[in-house]
Amino acid sequence: MRKKTDPARVKRRKKIAVWSFALIMLASLVAPFGGFVITALDSSAVAQEKPADSNPRSNYWRAVKGGVDGVSTVQGAETGVLINQGGTDWTNFRQGPVFKNLPWIVLGMLVLVTLYHLIHGKNKLEKRPSGILVKRWSGFERLVHWVTAVSFICLAITGLSMLLGRTVLLPLLSGIEGGKAAFAAWSQFAIQLHNIMGPVLSVGIVLMIVMWIWFNFPGKGDWGWIKAGGGLVGNKHPSAGRMNFGEKVWFWVICTFGLVVVVSGVVLVLPSFPSMAEYVPMTFDRNNMAEANQFHIIAGLIWMAIAIGHIYIGTAGTEGALQGMSTGYVTAEWAEQHHNLWFDKLQRQGKVPRQPDRYARGHNAVRQRSL
Ligand code: HEM
Repeated sequence: MRKKTDPARVKRRKKIAVWSFALIMLASLVAPFGGFVITALDSSAVAQEKPADSNPRSNYWRAVKGGVDGVSTVQGAETGVLINQGGTDWTNFRQGPVFKNLPWIVLGMLVLVTLYHLIHGKNKLEKRPSGILVKRWSGFERLVHWVTAVSFICLAITGLSMLLGRTVLLPLLSGIEGGKAAFAAWSQFAIQLHNIMGPVLSVGIVLMIVMWIWFNFPGKGDWGWIKAGGGLVGNKHPSAGRMNFGEKVWFWVICTFGLVVVVSGVVLVLPSFPSMAEYVPMTFDRNNMAEANQFHIIAGLIWMAIAIGHIYIGTAGTEGALQGMSTGYVTAEWAEQHHNLWFDKLQRQGKVPRQPDRYARGHNAVRQRSL
């Protein structure tokens, strides 16, 4: 009898092992297709297949998902709704297209504004200031503007944190010791701040609308401003009244997007105040809340992106604009360069002083430094 270590015997065993392995692999690859072969050969197998909806339990849950009433322990608007399909649709929409695409427009706007500033630079004053100042904004207008601006920025930061915090902020903080606890504390605070600042912004934009709507209807100079691309096309500064066309667009953005954000925010927060909610003629069910949430996020993000443009123009983009909104006064040269039709009107009304103002020293000092 040959020994187990006999080379010929070992070779034969190896050959059997390799072929067995190859056959097993081939069989496992081919086997899953076997079902197709069987059904192709035996059409009665298909006929005998059970229809997909024959399971009575599946049919029941399908009906429930479709909105058929049942009995649930929920009290109020949605008693009887066992599965709210709208909630699933809302989650998919919020975590899908909204979450994946919309925050990029905010980042895109930041990039655009930075590139514009690097290429174009600041819109500088063309004439050296004489020291004559004209009044552009009253104390009340400035108060409303800055309260609204601060509340808007708080809402934008806390809103973005609520939308993106878990995906962007949490992974960053998790790497630091105590980072998760810090994120939890910040998130709690962010929600509270958002809820407090919401009403502040709402009052602010209503006041802005009442104060400034009169200056923001289409008027003389607008068409020329559009044709000149706000001064980008050609080298002539386009004519403008108290508000130029760009500012008018920003104003109407506040009226539309601002109101959508405020109204949808009210719908989201009112169910927490049932005594107030009962005076509002609408049902606060989860479908309405999900819709309000979608409007709130979409309008809020678009508004934020446009606001970045406004904030840039009001600060680094235009020399002297921020001084106007901080002190209430602009130099006569600034008014003439940016809002010539308004400046002409002030002159006709005798509202442009003949002598340099004592406050002008501050304006001149800023100007001298930047020359
Ligand atoms: C840090 C943030 C902000 C800065 C630095 C800023 C700056 C300015 C400046 C300098 C002006 C005067 C422009 C001029 O004299 O022609 C102005 C006007 C105005 N701002 Fe702001 N702003 C900010 C945020 C906001 C926000 C959040 C809103 C509204 C939600 C807003 C609404 C307005 C409106 C309605 C005007 C009147 C002129 C116009 O229609 O553009 N601002 N802002």
